[in-house]
Amino acid sequence: MERRHFRLGFAGFGNVGRALARLLIARRDELARRYGLSFEVTLLASARRGAWVEPRGVDLEGALRSGWSSASRLAEVLGAAPIDLLFEATPLEPRTGEPALSHVRAALARGVSVVSANKGPIALAARELFGIARKAGAGFRFESAVADCLPVFNLAEAALPVGRLLRFRGVLNSTSNHVLQAIARGRSGEEAIGEMQRLGIAEADPSHDLDGWDQAVKVVILANVLMGRDLTPADVERTPVAAVDPGWLRAEEVAGRAVHLVAEVGPDGPACVHPVALPPGDFLASLRGFSLGLTIETELAATINVSIVEPHVEQTAYGMLADLVAIGQGRMMIPTPLLQATP
Ligand SMILES: NC(=O)c1ccc[n+]([C@@H]2O[C@H](COP(=O)([O-])OP(=O)(O)OC[C@H]3O[C@@H](n4cnc5c(N)ncnc54)[C@H](OP(=O)(O)O)[C@@H]3O)[C@@H](O)[C@H]2O)c1
Repeated sequence: MERRHFRLGFAGFGNVGRALARLLIARRDELARRYGLSFEVTLLASARRGAWVEPRGVDLEGALRSGWSSASRLAEVLGAAPIDLLFEATPLEPRTGEPALSHVRAALARGVSVVSANKGPIALAARELFGIARKAGAGFRFESAVADCLPVFNLAEAALPVGRLLRFRGVLNSTSNHVLQAIARGRSGEEAIGEMQRLGIAEADPSHDLDGWDQAVKVVILANVLMGRDLTPADVERTPVAAVDPGWLRAEEVAGRAVHLVAEVGPDGPACVHPVALPPGDFLASLRGFSLGLTIETELAATINVSIVEPHVEQTAYGMLADLVAIGQGRMMIPTPLLQATP
């Protein structure tokens, strides 16, 4: 077995970064045994604690316990930090993708692989970032950016190597759907949001979830990366949760139909994120609680439904761990029409 050692960097050490650190510690032996993959963490960065560069490897358990303090900022150290792979898990900024987009660009440009849970950079600059990664020989994967560890890109890579993907229709945001379900059952939306925040599932700023931006960003990623389109999140037609009539929600609940904020996109025409009353028997209607799911219409493989039941932040971290393993095995990027079209 070929052995591979990674010097890892963390951009962001919040819910996702910390869950990933715990998973790496817990699975260190398994990674070595099954994949010949070893690692040390040489860069830890957060907004408040600064960027800690330690070429000999940080004490990750100590950092989880007590944190750190550094006067350096991530943007200053990224050009020269001794890392082979950067985990990007800073908060989503859906309009500019920053600061994550700059982190990803800077890392890829110097040949440092990137695993991103942050969807902003991919939604706004996938074509450019794939191009930079290919030129620099860096890995670039982002399974967790769309639906935690629900296989979307890994599924397309492994199971759909030939033929086109024709349409996506999915429930890709837990918070908005949890809130819609709560209101439909006569509970308050605020109470449901508080619950999601305590579990680390809702974004730091839940407005991105509730106004449909989060799903808009995700549907753009699916359209651009897997269908080669050139959409931006601003192109997506969105209906925010606040615009959904609570009376209609309750009536649909009584009639046995689940209302979900559904994200949809095809090979042309607009993408949209809108509330849909799903009849029993519709695959997406079966998704309750925090569950996420996607229906993929394909050219050659019929229609494929995938779902993940009640994922938590540990599953986002797991998707990032799976991407690390993929890059360790030399699967640097998923095949994408964007890359085929990139000179
Ligand atoms: N939570 C989930 O279940 C989930 C699921 C899928 C994808 N994601 C994505 O994963 C990313 C992280 O989510 P999260 O829940 O972990 O967010 P979070 O708990 O708010 O953590 C964000 C981290 O980023 C740090 N940060 C902010 N600006 C920074 C900067 N300029 N330089 C360095 N670090 C910076 C923060 O620093 P401080 O700690 O000092 O504030 C914090 O450590 C987001 O893009 C989110 O959309 C999350």
